[in-house]
Amino acid sequence: MSYDFKIEAADKATLYRDMASALEGLVAGEPDAVANMANASALIFESLPDVNWVGFYRNVGGELVLGPFQGRAACIRIPFGTGVCGTAAATREVQLVEDVHAFPGHIACDSASNSEIVVPLIRDGELLGVLDIDSPRHARFDAEDEAGVVRLADIITRAI
Ligand code: SME
Repeated sequence: MSYDFKIEAADKATLYRDMASALEGLVAGEPDAVANMANASALIFESLPDVNWVGFYRNVGGELVLGPFQGRAACIRIPFGTGVCGTAAATREVQLVEDVHAFPGHIACDSASNSEIVVPLIRDGELLGVLDIDSPRHARFDAEDEAGVVRLADIITRAI
C-alpha cells in the first residue's frame, strides 16, 4: 500500500481542508500515538510550502520531550515556559511568531527557521503536547494558517 498524497491547492482554505481530510484518513482506526504523530508530521511537512521543521513535543511529566518530527535533529527537552514551544505549553495558547529571533528565549534548533507556529494539544483539559511548525520565511504563518493548523491539531489530539 502506498500513501501518495499530492496536495496542491490554489488557496489556503482548500489546502488545509484537503490536508485535514488526508490526515483523517491516515489516522482512522489507528490507536498508536507514535505512528499517528509520525504520519501527521510527514503529511504536513510534505504538503505545506516553505516549512523546514514539523513535529511534536510531548508533555512528559510536566516537561516537553521531543516526539516524531520531520526536519533537522532538534533539541530534546524543553521546560514549560521556555522558548516558543514552552510558552505554548505553559499558556495553552497558540503561538504565532512572525520573527523567532525577536521572541524572548527562543530555542534555535535550526538556524534556517525565521517564523513559527506552535499549537497546544489539549484533550479533556489535559495538555498532551504541542505541534510545532517552523519556516525559513519571515511571517510565514497568518490567521488562516492558524485556523488550518488548529484544525489539524484537533484531528491529531483525538488520535494520540
Ligand atoms: N523553536 C522552538 C524549539 C523547537 S525547534 O524549533 C524544533 C522553540 O523555541 O520552542
